[in-house]
Amino acid sequence: METIVDTTNSMNRSAADFLAGAIKDLGGKETGAKVLDFGCGNGGLVSSLLDRGFDAFGCDLDNKFWNGNDVTGHWQAHALTDPARLGAIQARPYRLPFADGTFDVVVSTSVLEHAQNKEEIFTEIHRVLKPGGCSIHILPSKWYLPLEPHIFVPLLNFLWPHCPSWWFKLWAFLGVKVPGQPGTWRDIARWNEWYFRTGLSYWTPGALRQLSRRVFGNYSAPRTYFMQASEGKASAIGRRFPSR
Ligand SMILES: C[S@@+](CC[C@H](N)C(=O)[O-])C[C@H]1O[C@@H](n2cnc3c(N)ncnc32)[C@H](O)[C@@H]1O
Repeated sequence: METIVDTTNSMNRSAADFLAGAIKDLGGKETGAKVLDFGCGNGGLVSSLLDRGFDAFGCDLDNKFWNGNDVTGHWQAHALTDPARLGAIQARPYRLPFADGTFDVVVSTSVLEHAQNKEEIFTEIHRVLKPGGCSIHILPSKWYLPLEPHIFVPLLNFLWPHCPSWWFKLWAFLGVKVPGQPGTWRDIARWNEWYFRTGLSYWTPGALRQLSRRVFGNYSAPRTYFMQASEGKASAIGRRFPSR
């Protein structure tokens, strides 16, 4: 089994197109493969992977799954009538709602930089993968520049897990905020600090590699592939330089 990690966050074309290619090119699996979108949110990627011929399923924490998004509306919008394709993750003990050895591939987009329990997650992903399966994770790197991509405060991913309160106040005072974020600059600074401490978890590539090797026995971060295959600005710049 193998874990493949992209921390370039340089993907610009749809996640589904990119992942459909990566499942074949990196994972060696064909259309029809059984794929789990881990941390699926409202299920948009599951729906798009189904449209592209994969046997796709999704799961997410059940608070998010049931309360966070309008799941029903989303599925109706995608004309998907099989709710059995979505499953709620049990939090304690942490367990994905699928039997051992179910999937050829597990993917995630923008999940691992939030997840506080990566070891439990990798262990569970390993359990639900078939022998020879792989997991592919797309997330912003701890070294992503210039702004933390969720709340736009500079260098927060570098600083995680330690950042002084004045850093949040400084940027909120200077007007840095998520479009539409309500409240005074003090409210925004407080909320951002809370989000940083409870909603983000930026591991170094080395720490991810170490955990992945321990759980899966393998790891790769094929940046050259992501540089070639993605259409984002960062990869366009990267293609101008010789890259490993
Ligand atoms: C930014 S959203 C991304 C949702 C979706 N993958 C997408 O790309 O639109 C992050 C998702 O990660 C999920 N998440 C965070 N921590 C998690 C954990 N420990 N286990 C499973 N899912 C988690 C959240 O519930 C949320 O749906």
